[in-house]
Amino acid sequence: KKPAGAPDKELARKITKVGVVGAGLMASQMALLFARRLHVPVVLTDIDQARVDKGVGYVHSEVDKLLGKKRVSPDEANRLKALVSGSLDKASFSDADFVIEAVFEDLAVKQQVFAEVEEHVSPEAILATNTSSLSITDMASKLAHPERVVGFHFFNPVAVMPLVEIVRAEQTDDATLATAFSVGKQLKKSCVLVKDAPSFVVNRLLTRFMGEVVKSIDEGTPFEVADKATEPLGLPMSPLILLQLVGSAVALHVSETMHDAFPDRFSVSPNMKRFVAAGKTAVWQWDAQGNQTVDPEVAAL
Ligand code: 3HC
Repeated sequence: KKPAGAPDKELARKITKVGVVGAGLMASQMALLFARRLHVPVVLTDIDQARVDKGVGYVHSEVDKLLGKKRVSPDEANRLKALVSGSLDKASFSDADFVIEAVFEDLAVKQQVFAEVEEHVSPEAILATNTSSLSITDMASKLAHPERVVGFHFFNPVAVMPLVEIVRAEQTDDATLATAFSVGKQLKKSCVLVKDAPSFVVNRLLTRFMGEVVKSIDEGTPFEVADKATEPLGLPMSPLILLQLVGSAVALHVSETMHDAFPDRFSVSPNMKRFVAAGKTAVWQWDAQGNQTVDPEVAAL
């Protein structure tokens, strides 16, 4: 069944090579998924060799885990490792027809990344963004060919979470959108077309949800109580562990974007600001017996 709002699939272009800008955790997971499901070469790039090497190393270790679980054969494992390469030079994207960025959540940085990529790729190559909150229309606005820009928003962990939010910018043409849906299908994801509005749909809900838990901590409810109170909801993981998974800096950034867009509905937690400013990523720590406690440094913030 055609997803709501998706253009005719006949318009979709075939993808033969993928570029991924940013080699962080989400980008590396994306690189592996593209190689595994599209069977095409994938190039990962970042601002320095150490990051690129870490990203490629992550892909190799995930492939080894799949091999260990017999989810892939030894031949396929070798093939996957060979398909994903790293490069510091965006010229290695020259023959890529689908480039996705997953760099820092900052509009100017993302615009700069797309401008650089545009110098190297063909005018038809799709430029996709994994932004979780920023305007795709703004991201496309400075390009020579803004009609090839589309939002393609994965969820953490990329390998497991079934949803991709596809976002049409004002400039996005039908061929780009059709290709995005086709790629999503090949990745075996459920794709939904959402409006180009701050944080789209899922993160708007999630920010509110996690935000309210954090707010109750701001108001004096102990961490453990606030987190435990959600247990009867039967969530796959507690809100504060989810916060760790998403990354505290990303979560703070999304809440700031939401506050700017809808100040009456979203607030920014002072505790979250202190937490991120202190370079903290995790609320919880576990001792050798598996007992879960709040990191005392976090509790004292
Ligand atoms: N990478 C790859 N695979 C992973 C993984 C990871 N980080 N974490 C878990 N998995 C795999 C496991 O290997 C396992 O695979 P298998 O069945 O092939 O062995 C499978 O997922 C299930 O894992 P577990 O049995 O260890 O654990 P759970 O059953 O508890 O599931 C979970 C783990 C899927 C992460 C589940 O806890 C969950 O759904 N959590 C909520 C995640 C969520 O809400 N994500 C959205 C975040 S918002 C976001 O990303 C947007 C962004 O813009 C900020």
